Amino acid sequence: MEVTNVMEYQEIAKQKLPKMVYDYYASGAEDQWTLAENRNAFSRILFRPRILIDVSKIDMTTTVLGFKISMPIMIAPTAMQKMAHPEGEYATARAASAAGTIMTLSSWATSSVEEVASTGPGIRFFQLYVYKDRHVVAQLVRRAERAGFKAIALTVDTPRLGRREADIKNRFTLPPFLTLKNFEGLDLGKMDMAEDSGLASYVAGQIDRTLSWKDVKWLQTITQLPILVKGVLTAEDTRLAIQAGVAGIIVSNHGARQLDYVPATIMALEEVVKAAQGRVPVFLDGGVRRGTDVFKALALGASGIFIGRPVVFSLAAEGEAGVRKVLQMLRDEFELTMALSGCRSLKEITRQHIVTDWDHPRPLHPPALPRL
Ligand code: FNR
Repeated sequence: MEVTNVMEYQEIAKQKLPKMVYDYYASGAEDQWTLAENRNAFSRILFRPRILIDVSKIDMTTTVLGFKISMPIMIAPTAMQKMAHPEGEYATARAASAAGTIMTLSSWATSSVEEVASTGPGIRFFQLYVYKDRHVVAQLVRRAERAGFKAIALTVDTPRLGRREADIKNRFTLPPFLTLKNFEGLDLGKMDMAEDSGLASYVAGQIDRTLSWKDVKWLQTITQLPILVKGVLTAEDTRLAIQAGVAGIIVSNHGARQLDYVPATIMALEEVVKAAQGRVPVFLDGGVRRGTDVFKALALGASGIFIGRPVVFSLAAEGEAGVRKVLQMLRDEFELTMALSGCRSLKEITRQHIVTDWDHPRPLHPPALPRL
């Protein structure tokens, strides 16, 4: 049957993938409350479309950190894509580049920065996890720079791995025929089996829990690349990030895989946008599955969005063609949403084009009806 929306790839991936792999891709942390909320919250935002505007020409192009892209829909870093498809990150890189948009490569990719660069031209960001061994980090950042990556997305919500119970039950580990390619040769490319999640043990052993704002400064001393902080959810941290000199902020809850019961990212977005005061661009990831979601995020002040799971699910289903199709479907839906809302360019999308549940606070106890 023809795939007509992004969500449908999840079921196909579930049929195709080994349970351990599917669960790793699909899961959130603990009760998975935030996982459901990342989707549900979008349904609390409705449109206020404008009519009788000539929408025969729609321009979705935008600029991210000075790089022109075809649409405000980009690819978030998701680890270990060769578990989904033999071509893994190569396929994702080619699909992103064909769509004229940005791919973010995970530190924990199963293809190296050099290999991904070798797929051809494309604007790519590199997602960084900071290891305890800073020589490893410095070397990796240098390699990403040399391979032509244009920005570092520093993930700041993972001092420890969130508790993903399916991974614990499945004793999740990277299949032995794959390696975390960026760390091959550094003796950090393999993941051992553990009593619980192999990835949680790997993180506990290698990732630096002391990471703090001073390390954002440190990162700036070892690279010229602009730094995006990925994982901000509050106004307080937005202000600190700007003080630390970051180039942009990604409102993210790591696809609900870290701290459970944090708000949906679409709910946290406006607070961050207000605190940023236009000084740096604010992006969002988490639960974006429809063109209408993209529009809602932009109406709340995001400069663009990133998608995570739709990439690994479509990769599992159809490889590069699947990822291309996901990007095309989101693009088409977003274009249609713009047309039906009366917006011809991204700058025409405003807060007035939506109404949210929290715009008109309702009293908790509605007044009793007068007796007649
Ligand atoms: C992720 N995410 C993630 N983030 C990161 O900074 N580094 C990483 O290596 C990974 N790996 C990863 C693997 C998988 C399977 C998932 C689902 C997620 C988080 C990712 O970048 C992004 O924040 C979310 O995936 C966005 O939410 P959606 O689009 O998956 O709902």
